[in-house]
Formats: sequence, structure tokens, C-alpha cells
Amino acid sequence: MTQPDDLRRIDLLAADEIGEGEMRMVWVDGGASPVLVARLGGVLHATQGTCSHEYFELDRGFITRGTLTCPLHMSRFSLGSGEALDAPAELPLVVYPVVVEDGRVLILVPDGPLLVNED
Ligand code: FES
Repeated sequence: MTQPDDLRRIDLLAADEIGEGEMRMVWVDGGASPVLVARLGGVLHATQGTCSHEYFELDRGFITRGTLTCPLHMSRFSLGSGEALDAPAELPLVVYPVVVEDGRVLILVPDGPLLVNED
């Protein structure tokens, strides 16, 4: 598959570092940006690492039935689409496309700072 030249490929972690139903926070860009990686139903997902409602690191949340719950105000998010399923969060989480190559999990993102939704 060819990819546009302006996409960044960010290596996050080894695929076998994350088991089914688990999530990990990976800090990229010199520790400036957190990315949450989760494996659910055998599928790896990557989203912005902080809640879209207020600054809260989402690896302190929990996964149930395909959703990620932010424990600060209990909004749930779809891990697949990033959609906010409950108030008070309104904005979706930004979802980053994931590829696995040679056992490594990478995201493909536009050049520049990682996109993040925040109220
Ligand atoms: S900070 Fe996550 S729901 Fe409020």
C-alpha cells in the first residue's frame, strides 16, 4: 500500500506488549503527546491519550464492551470511532490509523503535531 509522503509513521510499541482487553499509554514526540493503544476483539486501536472533555489521562480509565470509560466524569467513548457516547464529553477522541509491521504497532498521522480534540 502506498502512503502519501506527508504522513508520519510513529512507532509505538511491540504488538505483543499489549494483550486482549488491555491498554497502554505511549508518549510520543519527545514525551509531548500521549497516545492510548488498546486491543479489543483482536483489533488494535489508537486514540488521543487524554479525554476530550478535560485534561485527564485515559490509561487510568477502563474498557467495557467495546467502550473506553473516562473515570473523571464517566463519559464513555467508542474505541473504534472515538465517538463520545455519554455526556459530559461532546467531542470524539481523535482516532489514529494503526498498522502492524514486523511485530511493531505504528500509527500513520499527518505531518505536524498530533491532532487532539479538547473542549
Ligand atoms: S475528563 Fe473525561 S469525562 Fe470529564
